[in-house]
Amino acid sequence: MNIDLIKQKAGIIGESDAISQVLEMVAQVANVDISVLINGESGTGKELVSKALHLGSKRASSELVIVNCGAIPEGIIESELFGHKKGAYTDAADSRKGYFETANKGTIFLDEIGDMPLETQVKVLRVLESGEFMRVGDSVTKKTDVRVIAATNKDLAKLVQEGKFRQDLYYRLKTVTINIPPLRKRANDIRLLVDRFALQFSRTNDIKYKGFTPESIKEMQDYHWPGNVRELRNFVESILILQKGERITADMVANQLIGDKIEPMENNTSLPVVVNRDPDQAERELILRQLLFLRQDIEDLKLMMKESSFSELNSSRSINQSFGSAIQDNEIFDENENLIKGKMIGAFNTKDLEKEMIIRTLEHFNNNRRAAAKSLDMSERTLYRKINDYGIEKKIKKDS
Ligand SMILES: Nc1ncnc2c1ncn2[C@@H]1O[C@H](COP(=O)(O)OP(=O)(O)OP(=O)(O)O)[C@@H](O)[C@H]1O
Ligand SMILES: [Mg+2]
Repeated sequence: MNIDLIKQKAGIIGESDAISQVLEMVAQVANVDISVLINGESGTGKELVSKALHLGSKRASSELVIVNCGAIPEGIIESELFGHKKGAYTDAADSRKGYFETANKGTIFLDEIGDMPLETQVKVLRVLESGEFMRVGDSVTKKTDVRVIAATNKDLAKLVQEGKFRQDLYYRLKTVTINIPPLRKRANDIRLLVDRFALQFSRTNDIKYKGFTPESIKEMQDYHWPGNVRELRNFVESILILQKGERITADMVANQLIGDKIEPMENNTSLPVVVNRDPDQAERELILRQLLFLRQDIEDLKLMMKESSFSELNSSRSINQSFGSAIQDNEIFDENENLIKGKMIGAFNTKDLEKEMIIRTLEHFNNNRRAAAKSLDMSERTLYRKINDYGIEKKIKKDS
């Protein structure tokens, strides 16, 4: 399949040499029934490239099954991948197909393969070599015809050295490796990406769009984008909302990029101070800081309720005005107002704080759990567990 068709089918944007090399490689190997390892920092487009490989193969009319190995609890990963037999666990009331069976005739994308437990890696190697596997609790060998695409943002060679990744599986996977360069190494694609993201976003959300000045694009090209294309997409969307239909200038971009790096608050020495963090980290600190403010406010509120009559509490606006001195920033002000309205009754403990922090981080990252987990400085597994424990799932709209 030619490169233009692949780009169009998978929705890959870019004309830089760096992305062209990736696409050439995709075009060469898509239709060869061989496993592929995709390497790249978070948000560089690994999943997109896996889609391109699938769509460019003979398997395109069958399923592409995407498995995030880092997010599945170790205890159930084998049953998820290979299925289980009725009675394999106390709660296994029925037999169940695993992803390798579902992907039969199609492709399986093993994302974050570096997080796969060693025992599971042996079984994946077996499927790769012979197509054979067994459901958990079963003694019958089954066969599947699956093409494996794996991805990682970790250095697998290093994991092998550390004994955390099997060497045999590593050699098997790495024969065809596609390295996706970070966005900062293909800065001349930024204009095209911004255009596409802005058009898509303004159309779906019915927002006015007057474009970006050439200088604003230059400003973006000079930034290092640690979160790569995903970060750029979020950035474009938020600047369009914040600037309410204005043409986007270099100053607006520069200000927002600085805003993402949060300056320390001078008269609040008790609060965490942030300097030169990456945006994910900075976002996390911002959320934390807002929650700390909130906790302070609630403490103050309790005091005030004890001391004064309830008439002072008629509107949350008056509450905020009473605490105007503690609140420096419009955004924080608004956030507090909402939170106070919703949470005024009852104790506000660390669990509530954590839950709120998770919800907001997930929302910020468009429900991308990997990015959220990274930003919250917890493993994806832990994040999944907490999402379940706190019953957060239903509150957050699904990624589109
Ligand atoms: N070249 C590109 N053209 C258009 N969109 C892109 C491109 N690269 C990435 N994106 C978009 O950026 C976002 C992140 O891409 P993707 O999920 O493929 O990254 P990833 O490498 O799998 O990230 P992670 O390691 O965090 O899982 C997606 O919304 C994707 O559509
Ligand atoms: Mg991904």
